[in-house]
Amino acid sequence: MGRDAKIELHLHLEGAAPPAFIRGLAAEKHADIGGIFDERGNYRFRDFWDFLKVYEAATSVLTSPEDYARLTRAVLEESAASGVIYSETFLSPDFCGGRDVGAWREYLVAIREAAAEAERRDGITLRGIITCIRHFGPEKARETALCAAETAGDWIVGFGIAGDEKVLAPADFRWSFDCAREAGLRLTAHAGEWGGPESVRAALRDLEVERIGHGVRAIEDLALVDELAERGVVLECCPGSNVALGLYSGFRQHPIARLYDRGVKVTVSTDDPPFFHTTMAREFQMLHDAFDWDDGVFASLNRTALDAAFCDTDTKAAIAKKLEA
Ligand code: ADE
Ligand code: ZN
Repeated sequence: MGRDAKIELHLHLEGAAPPAFIRGLAAEKHADIGGIFDERGNYRFRDFWDFLKVYEAATSVLTSPEDYARLTRAVLEESAASGVIYSETFLSPDFCGGRDVGAWREYLVAIREAAAEAERRDGITLRGIITCIRHFGPEKARETALCAAETAGDWIVGFGIAGDEKVLAPADFRWSFDCAREAGLRLTAHAGEWGGPESVRAALRDLEVERIGHGVRAIEDLALVDELAERGVVLECCPGSNVALGLYSGFRQHPIARLYDRGVKVTVSTDDPPFFHTTMAREFQMLHDAFDWDDGVFASLNRTALDAAFCDTDTKAAIAKKLEA
């Protein structure tokens, strides 16, 4: 299971930064990022809201395109070691160049070069989803959407929203999502993680997304679960993230199996793996242990993920061949 081929749709690039990598960059730059590490050198946070603060503090040492190139190399090496052959990563111009389109292009060039190198070396393919941050507000999201529209294409394939689901509403970000859609980008939104079923309904209704980041709290409303199944909405589930942040007490309590059994298109991702002490290999192993899922189930999850990937059809066909091999 560990090295079997896997497709990952929900990975935050900064959230995948190993703590030692961030500590090293902070030391190189003589940057004080406060007490974000515990005594063993792991990221330390109390809850989701504290996690967001630690995430932003860690990200503050990533200040140049070269930093992002190094980060991309480190992250893809780790993903490839877990068997990931195709990954979609969230990228935020908020952190890469401060939403200035010219600066963002330079970050993107560096990230893409590092990704191409990893593809040659490890056979892992990466694509980007530009992500606005909900708690930074709709005005900044508009600038982010403009960066996305300017760089939409065969590599930047999607647009999304992450951050604190408890502030503002999906409708506040409608302009940004319309802008991204008109630029040809596919859409996803974090919802149903800290917000309940209504948060998922609002993302579908007001942003017209085809995938939902997490979405697991849809389980609290079975009519919504059935609607997700009927409409074929894909959930980017990140069970290890939800357990680490205290949303569920363990994998066995996680609703992914109930959603799957009721016909919802679920997929498996890591979200911010070093923060949550996880990898794609561990996610698959924990799901196997919790639900006795076998290779057939994992193969169907991978196919669902590849079908729902935002890349073009030629890329998909090439990945499908690798998946079948
Ligand atoms: N940004 C990084 N990880 C996130 C998560 N799990 N939820 C919302 N925003 C995030
Ligand atoms: Zn996420």
